[in-house]
Amino acid sequence: MPRKDLLDIASLSDEELMSLLDNTVQMKEVFTRSVKKVPTLRGRTVLMLFYENSTRTSTSFEIAAKRLSADVINFDIGTSSVRKGESVRETIETLEAMRCEYVVVRHPMAGFAQTLASMTGMSVINAGDGRHAHPTQALLDAHTIREAMAMGNLQGKKILIAGDVLHSRVARSTSTIFKRLGAEVAFMGPGSLLPKSSPFPQFTSYDEAMQWGPDVMYLLRVQMERQTAPYYPSNSEFHKLYGVTAERLKEVSDKGIYLMHPGPFNRGVEICDDAVTYERSLINTQVENGVAARMSVLYGLKPQVASFGE
Ligand code: CP
Repeated sequence: MPRKDLLDIASLSDEELMSLLDNTVQMKEVFTRSVKKVPTLRGRTVLMLFYENSTRTSTSFEIAAKRLSADVINFDIGTSSVRKGESVRETIETLEAMRCEYVVVRHPMAGFAQTLASMTGMSVINAGDGRHAHPTQALLDAHTIREAMAMGNLQGKKILIAGDVLHSRVARSTSTIFKRLGAEVAFMGPGSLLPKSSPFPQFTSYDEAMQWGPDVMYLLRVQMERQTAPYYPSNSEFHKLYGVTAERLKEVSDKGIYLMHPGPFNRGVEICDDAVTYERSLINTQVENGVAARMSVLYGLKPQVASFGE
């Protein structure tokens, strides 16, 4: 039976994971048509509930829903009764009563999407909860590498996830999906921004990480907003020690390493300007694939509300 919610990568079965990735390929094909729209979710409503800021995730979900012919409601937390103290349960029951079928939610608290899913028959899609998970980012990233390397899985490939791993929900979700697809994963960054324990090798030296031989460098944004105290001396020091600088880009290029970043960037911290547009940068492709991956997710879930399946 199709699942109701997408909360993280770990809880997906292998079959569900591969189905979401394979359907992303089909959804991307829709973009090559002159009319980039299919009627799959006509008459359905997707509610966007963002308690944290977003450019890529919120916009690509909205485009994805519209390409599937759904209606989209952008719920404005700032002007809603949430500001008068309305509880999460009351908000969600009110919205379900209006016969929405899907909720895309981002919240600073880990576990928020799961709590919400337990309160509603609407399909809940986690668009990022605190440091915990960002499953649709992981799906679009896995699709982007499969597409770039023309591989069904990532067996034998090495993926280095670099930067602020400690605060990153993206690192948790992408490392999980890359490993499940057969890749070797390692983390690199200052010791203060790496987890205390990890199933993956960890490097605190850029040069040692490069000697490990990555096929892909996945750079993470330094999450200033989640840091309660300084974790490194300065941004220029971070760039010098751990960033892809203009000088290091030559080595990255000579070795044919793909560069990825979920965005938004801190230019001059984890990444230099030229690295964004480097010929093996997959950053813009990640953004493009975000729409297809999110179409696949909306298509693959089954809300448990009276209006669905009638
Ligand atoms: N990658 C990502 O989640 O970006 P946004 O914060 O812009 O959605």
